[in-house]
This record gives sequence, structure tokens and C-alpha cells, in this order.
Amino acid sequence: MQDVLGYIDAHRERFVRELVEWVKIPSISALPAHAPDMLRNAEHLCAALAALGADRAEVLTTRGHPAVFASFDHAPGKPTLLVYGHHDVQPIDPLGEWVSPPFEPAVRDGRLYGRGVVDDKGQVWIHLKAIEAFLRGGGGKLPINLKLIVEGEEEVGSEHLGDVMREHEELLRADYVCVSDTAMFGRGIPSLCVGLRGLAYFEVHVSGPSGDVHSGSFGGGIANPANALARILARLHDDDGHVTIPGFYDRVRVLTQPEKDEIASLPHDDAAWLAMSGARAAVGEAGFSTLERIWCRPTLDVCGLTSGFQGEGAKTIIPATASAKVSCRLVPDQTPDEIGRLLAEHVMRLAPPGVKVEVVTLHGGMPYLAPTSHPVFEVARRAFSKAFGGKPTVFIREGGSIPFVRTIADATGKPCLLMGFGQPDENAHAPNEWLDLENFHLGIKSAAHLYDELAKMVTP
Ligand code: BES
Ligand code: ZN
Repeated sequence: MQDVLGYIDAHRERFVRELVEWVKIPSISALPAHAPDMLRNAEHLCAALAALGADRAEVLTTRGHPAVFASFDHAPGKPTLLVYGHHDVQPIDPLGEWVSPPFEPAVRDGRLYGRGVVDDKGQVWIHLKAIEAFLRGGGGKLPINLKLIVEGEEEVGSEHLGDVMREHEELLRADYVCVSDTAMFGRGIPSLCVGLRGLAYFEVHVSGPSGDVHSGSFGGGIANPANALARILARLHDDDGHVTIPGFYDRVRVLTQPEKDEIASLPHDDAAWLAMSGARAAVGEAGFSTLERIWCRPTLDVCGLTSGFQGEGAKTIIPATASAKVSCRLVPDQTPDEIGRLLAEHVMRLAPPGVKVEVVTLHGGMPYLAPTSHPVFEVARRAFSKAFGGKPTVFIREGGSIPFVRTIADATGKPCLLMGFGQPDENAHAPNEWLDLENFHLGIKSAAHLYDELAKMVTP
């Protein structure tokens, strides 16, 4: 391993320069105008994998944005690891808040700034560079068999990846799955994520008069869609922060005492955590700690609200429509389908007379809980700690969602290692997204150690 690790040290700067080139491509999956960039982005990645000497490297077309697949079949009889990541990024608004332009990546104070640097291009590049270190610095061979699937629709719900999996079932066959798309618990703390929340995302549309009408002539005489929507939304939580939808919590797994103890043992500081958001107080469902709330409890949040006059000053109208974007984060064993049904039924029950209410589902994904008693989790823990100077690796969960993780885990029955190198304060999805370049460097070493440690395992 010394030659591999030495190679990673020696090429540290170049690895960053290469990542910069990839980040320059504006691969925003949510915006149709960027469809050509999505293809260019996939081709850039595919070319990099081919240049590494992959046995197979191809852009897989889907009914949506393309994915990239590659395989390195170097180690007959050794385990096969499937690495999953995504090459799409989030939109960049509000653009005015970026200190340097999102697609002109810039290094400041050991951080690389740009859209997608941590979510998830930097974390995908970590694996490419770990592979390169074995091939060019470590005797020309990988110690295990590796496959990579890097999709282009993670940020918009991975709608077409299920089709890719069914069509290319044999391509994705592996003994273990590794996902690098999560954050570490804190700077310098190697952290394996063992739980992800799921997601169910909706729009609630309320309509009233056929167009905006004078609030003097009609106010008080007809139902106001904005008032109606506000009333519906306000009734979705009680005063203790519980969601009021009947049946919402029925399938929620209750935390065991050992699970609670493990979470409580982490070096969490509510004040420091709060400061990352700039919010005024840590509030949430009564009876749970902050980490329990964000990792292990389901939520319902309004993500967007639109209605009526939005310009400066006053305009006296009753708006014709009002709509809200609503997301629920889910935990085992909730499912997006059932939560969608329960939410729609409840919203309809709450709808006041005189307006039309519709609930539209946008997308969803299942939660994931890793089978941590499987020996591969200790192997990953050891690998991660080796790269981080012997520091113990903690098990954490994540409040965010990566729907494909559950899909692939269910389809293959294989354990999924969520070995992430981000940090919770790196502004993913927000202006000034950044990547800690030390984590990037140690991430490459962690991936290299993981491949090396997995090679010592008996093929399942
Ligand atoms: N990398 C994130 C998942 C994540 C979120 C990791 C928060 C660590 C902290 C991923 O790219 C993401 O943003 N997922 C979306 C999924 C959705 C669009 C289906 C999410 O969680 O909102
Ligand atoms: Zn994301």
C-alpha cells in the first residue's frame, strides 16, 4: 500500500486540477436547457474512466439523463465492489450570492468552491483517483474487482435508474456497494453513514376564482385560495411539532435504547450545529434530541409557497390560485406511496368549501438502514480509520436521501457502505458550495484502503 499512498500524495495538486475541469461543466439535471451539458458531463467522466484503462466504460442512455458505467475486472476470485455516485448537480440560484461563479471553480483557504464540488463530483472523483493510484502507482492492478455506476438524475429523484438496473442487471452484479455522497460527522471524523431518510415530495394546488379579483368587491364573499392553503398547511402539525396526518407514524420504527445511546455518544453540540444554519433556535418534534429528529424521525416541511401579488407595495386582490411544495422525509418502514395516499386523503379532508384542492406527487424514495452486523462494516471502519491517522470511525445517519441506495440494496440483497467525505457545513445545494481539499485527499486514501481491506475478505 505504501506505493499507492505515496502516489496519492505525489499527485495531490493534479487531482484537484482535474476535478476543477469536470466541475466547469454545468450539469444541472433539473433544468431542461442543460440537457446537452448532461451528456457532455457524462462523456467527460466516461473518457476519464476509459483513459484509466477500464475494461468497460460506457455512457448508458436512459429515458432521462445519461448514466455512466465502468468496470475493472482485475481480480478473479476477489470480491466485486459497485461504487455509486451521481454526476448531476443542483441549480445555482440565487446566483448573486456566489463569491466566485459556480462553474468557475476557485480554491480559497484549502477549500474548492463550485457547484457540485462535494455533491457529488468531488466524491466520484475520489474513487477515480484511488483506482488510478493502484494502476499507476501500485503495480498496475486493482486488488478487487470494481464497477462504477454514476447516474445523472439523483438530484431529481433517480426516476429512470430503476430501468437501467433492470436492463443491465448483470452489469451491476456485485458483492458490496459503496456510495460516496454523504457527509462526515465533523471535520476530521471518519464517519460511516448507516441510515438515510426517504422522501415523498408533493405539490398542493388550491384554486378559486377564474382569475385574480378585486378584494373589495369579492373579499368576504368568496373563498380565498391563499387563506385556504394557509389553513390546510397550518393544520398539518400540532403544537408539539407532531405531524397530524392519521396513520403517518404507524410504520415508524421506534429507536431502541442501544440506538439512542450510540447517537447520544456522538460529540454533537446543538449550538454549533445551529450556527451552521443561522437559524434562531433548535426546535422540532417534542421528546427527541436534535440528532434523533434529523436522522430517525419523519418530517413534513413546506419547501415553497406561491400565491397572489408578489411585487413591491400593496395590491388588493383575492388570488385565483395558491400552491405549496411539500416534502416529507421518511424513516423505516414508511413508504412514499403510503405517505402520499395518507397525505392526500388528509389534505382533502381539511379542504374548506369554495375552493378546489389537488395533491400532485412529484417524486419519492425509500429510506435505508444498513445491516451493520455484517462484517464488511468493520472492514470499512478499519479502512476509513487507517486513512484518517487511526481516528476511530463513527457510525452516523443522514437526514438526507439517496433513493437509489435502497433500490440497489433491495435488488441485490448486498450491504451498502455509505462512505462519505463531505461536511455538513459545505453548502451543498446552496450558494458557495465547497469541498475541504484535505477531506478530498484523505477520501482518496480511504477509498484505496477500502479496496485493499476488501481484498482480504473471503469472497461471499
Ligand atoms: N448528497 C445528497 C444526499 C445527502 C443529503 C447527503 C444531505 C448528506 C446530507 C443527495 O445528492 C441529495 O441531495 N439527495 C436529495 C434526494 C432527492 C432529490 C430525491 C435530497 O436528500 O434532497
Ligand atoms: Zn444533492
